[in-house]
Amino acid sequence: MTAQFPVARPRRLRRTAPMRRMVAGTRLHPSELILPMFVKEGIGEPSPIGSMPGVFQHTRDSLRKAAHEAAEAGVGGLILFGIPQTKDARGSAGDDPAGIVQQAVADLVSDVGDTMVVMTDTCLDEFTDHGHCGILTPGGEVDNDATLERYAAVAVAQARAGSQVIAPSGMMDGQVAAIRAALDADGFEQVPILAYSVKYASALYGPFREAAECAPQFGDRSAYQQDPAGPVGEALREIRLDLEEGADAVMVKPAMLYLDILRQVRDLVDVPVAAYQVSGEYAMIEAAAANGWIDRNRAITESLVAIRRAGADMILTYWATEVARSM
Ligand code: PBG
Repeated sequence: MTAQFPVARPRRLRRTAPMRRMVAGTRLHPSELILPMFVKEGIGEPSPIGSMPGVFQHTRDSLRKAAHEAAEAGVGGLILFGIPQTKDARGSAGDDPAGIVQQAVADLVSDVGDTMVVMTDTCLDEFTDHGHCGILTPGGEVDNDATLERYAAVAVAQARAGSQVIAPSGMMDGQVAAIRAALDADGFEQVPILAYSVKYASALYGPFREAAECAPQFGDRSAYQQDPAGPVGEALREIRLDLEEGADAVMVKPAMLYLDILRQVRDLVDVPVAAYQVSGEYAMIEAAAANGWIDRNRAITESLVAIRRAGADMILTYWATEVARSM
């Protein structure tokens, strides 16, 4: 007598690579990857970032070269962060028409602006001497409304330089509305806003702060970024507010530790959702792989598939060029 069971054998569809490929529900494509890039004013050579092997603070020239490589690999977009030579309390370099981000954006738009989307992170922390994302009150708090005026000026300067998407990341209340109004008043009603709507005060930004030289000189960002233990509804509210204020697309950040939030956001909205696989996510995988503890390529792919499966339409990742090339 032969056994009648099991009748259900999920393994049937897993037996061969073609079978697995055919039934795969999650696919990655280079066009949905966005490469974060750093450009630093006043350096002669690209400078490697210790905590992010393979990532550099670029010169204007090396930035152009790296952007070309990304475009050739089919990467969908890039997002630019700049490190100015001089910083002050109000982050003046951020909206200086001759500021490093403005100069580099113009380069990138003329080089690759027809093949990939050139975006700018809109914040003040790279430009302030105190490292906070806004203007400080005498008591050392970040002054929300005074900061909005600065964000509006930075966004307009970036748009004038050619930025094709403005991405405010500072977590001030009302930042999307303030930026939208300023862009529209300056004739940039066609420039979209990708809002960092849900951004947690995460331990995983450490390597980025080395890369962007923007670690806060006192305190931390937990009075403006979200508490990881905060109510889930807070994340959804941030999303709703940003959409009401005119956001064209929204972001969840970090990615891997917030996949539950990402899924809920995806289910809530009808605009594109981005997820930022942040510097610490990159560093953790690179460090474990360098020690021989995990298989680097598999871990990278698995992480991106997980983020995609949780609901991201677009993924910001420092591996964008490498991954796009391998597809
Ligand atoms: C703020 C900003 C940060 C990141 C992107 N935009 C840092 C912060 O909030 O401290 C982090 C990105 C990463 O860790 O890769 N301008």
